[in-house]
Amino acid sequence: MAGFHASKLLFLLAAAALVAAAESARLRDGGNLHLWKSTGLDASNRRHVAKLTDFGGVGDGVTSNTKAFAAAVGNLSQVAADGGAMLVVPAGRWLTAPFNLTSHFTLFLDRDAVILASQDMNEFPIISPLPSYGRGRDTSGGRYSNFIMGYNLTDVAITGNNGTINGQGQMWWDKFLAKELQHTRGYLVEFMFCTNVLVSDVTLMDSPSWNLHPVYSSDVTVSGITVLAPVTSPNTDGIDPDSCTNVKILNSYVISGDDCIAIKSGWDEYGIAFNMPSKHIYIRNFTCISPSSATIAIGSEMSGGVEDVRAEDITAINTESAVRIKTAVGRGAYVKDVFVRRMSLHTMKYIFWSTGSYGQHPDDKFDPKAIPVVENINFGDVVASNVTIVGKLEGLEQSPFSGMCISNVKAEIFATKKAIWNCTFVEGVSTGVTPAACPQLKDMGPQASPCPFPEF
Ligand SMILES: *[C@@H]1O[C@H](CO)[C@@H](O)[C@H](O)[C@H]1NC(C)=O
Ligand SMILES: *[C@@H]1O[C@H](CO)[C@@H](O)[C@H](O)[C@H]1NC(C)=O
Ligand SMILES: *[C@@H]1O[C@H](CO)[C@@H](O)[C@H](O)[C@H]1NC(C)=O
Ligand SMILES: *[C@@H]1O[C@H](CO)[C@@H](O)[C@H](O)[C@H]1NC(C)=O
Ligand SMILES: *[C@@H]1O[C@H](CO)[C@@H](O)[C@H](O)[C@H]1NC(C)=O
Ligand SMILES: *[C@@H]1O[C@H](CO)[C@@H](O)[C@H](O)[C@H]1NC(C)=O
Ligand SMILES: *[C@@H]1O[C@H](CO)[C@@H](O)[C@H](O)[C@H]1NC(C)=O
Repeated sequence: MAGFHASKLLFLLAAAALVAAAESARLRDGGNLHLWKSTGLDASNRRHVAKLTDFGGVGDGVTSNTKAFAAAVGNLSQVAADGGAMLVVPAGRWLTAPFNLTSHFTLFLDRDAVILASQDMNEFPIISPLPSYGRGRDTSGGRYSNFIMGYNLTDVAITGNNGTINGQGQMWWDKFLAKELQHTRGYLVEFMFCTNVLVSDVTLMDSPSWNLHPVYSSDVTVSGITVLAPVTSPNTDGIDPDSCTNVKILNSYVISGDDCIAIKSGWDEYGIAFNMPSKHIYIRNFTCISPSSATIAIGSEMSGGVEDVRAEDITAINTESAVRIKTAVGRGAYVKDVFVRRMSLHTMKYIFWSTGSYGQHPDDKFDPKAIPVVENINFGDVVASNVTIVGKLEGLEQSPFSGMCISNVKAEIFATKKAIWNCTFVEGVSTGVTPAACPQLKDMGPQASPCPFPEF
């Protein structure tokens, strides 16, 4: 009998060890094998592989590689439909003008590979404004080309061994702040009308403006990326899913001068007419440093609607706010079904900061009757130190924020004379929140169930 028990115990121990080993293998590869399957991508296994040097590339940081990139992508695009193609950018500093990607294609940045954006503004053609914005975000009219762009593609990846795409944005920031630019700054990487996109294991750095902008796209996975920009650089948002469906942002880290993640869907009457929401946006294991902006923002451009945003395991340090919903009269549409849990926060001006009167309009043609709806917003399991304001939640009199739920929050307050909570035109519930939430979020008592958090 004893022998039977002992062998059964050994069997159980061995089984547990196998499960643990499988789990640690999954964590070691950042879950990418699973992710690539889930996006239908097999970005590492392309039939046709070439190096930038095959096309005359010179990685000395001085020579222009504009022709080499165009020739490489052009060449590989002819064979990519046959089992996929991959362009390897080896170690080196590869200066180039903007270039476009193609379908069934992987841009692979090897360790110590740096793709450097040209500093010649004449090499950035003016492209059309985004239809859901009606004009450029900085100025009316068109915008300077993005640096790396995917347009109308499917099955496209940027990955590697943590090589870097460097936008050398200082020139753009200086000209923008001096009001010398005639057009809107481009983004570092933009995917527009794309499906099955992977951006993983790369560093994006010093974008002229937003760093990674998937727009009108679906099935987008971002994993293991680092985004770096000076915290004073203007509008250097980290990752901005915009009118996108099924986006996963995992295991990534952003230091920037604007929102680390901003979920958007178009601007006022242009966004309302384009009518393309952002939905099913999943964020896990994300870290942010952004002293003047949000960890996760929704809006302010949200005129196509934003729904089903789930985020968990979020860390922020020295960041203005943790979650920020920004809308305005004229935006129309909605922000609904938002679930954010397990946040660890250190030195924050706000934890929850939302406003229904953000302002900023593309022009004066917006509809003053287009009132956004904000509903079913859930936050829970938050530990925060050195916080100034826990919640500043300002709904609209015409459209109060409704169905807000906040549970299990422990915030340690930095000595302040400011109101720790300040809510107007908000209704909902709270439980287990210290310091206690504003009276508009009715305290259901310590025994109440926490806010609901669906799995993902
Ligand atoms: C480009 O494509 C053609 C045809 O597929 C191929 O023969 C050629 O070797 C490729 N590479 C270069 C460097 O041109
Ligand atoms: C990239 O594609 C976009 C959309 O088709 C186009 O406007 C732009 O000129 C292209 N850029 C380059 C460098 O080819
Ligand atoms: C993009 O794809 C759409 C259809 O999906 C097509 O109508 C359009 O012409 C394509 N544009 C370009 C520049 O390839
Ligand atoms: C990738 O490189 C960046 C910039 O050098 C660094 O901050 C980051 O820790 C690196 N990530 C990994 C996984 O090595
Ligand atoms: C979380 O992401 C970081 C990179 O920012 C990574 O080093 C770490 O392994 C990830 N943790 C898990 C549990 O995946
Ligand atoms: C706490 O926050 C205040 C105000 O934001 C900041 O000045 C101070 O350095 C922070 N203290 C610590 C220990 O991080
Ligand atoms: C609360 O916020 C409103 C604006 O939303 C402001 O007018 C008011 O002064 C604030 N109250 C306190 C006590 O800070």
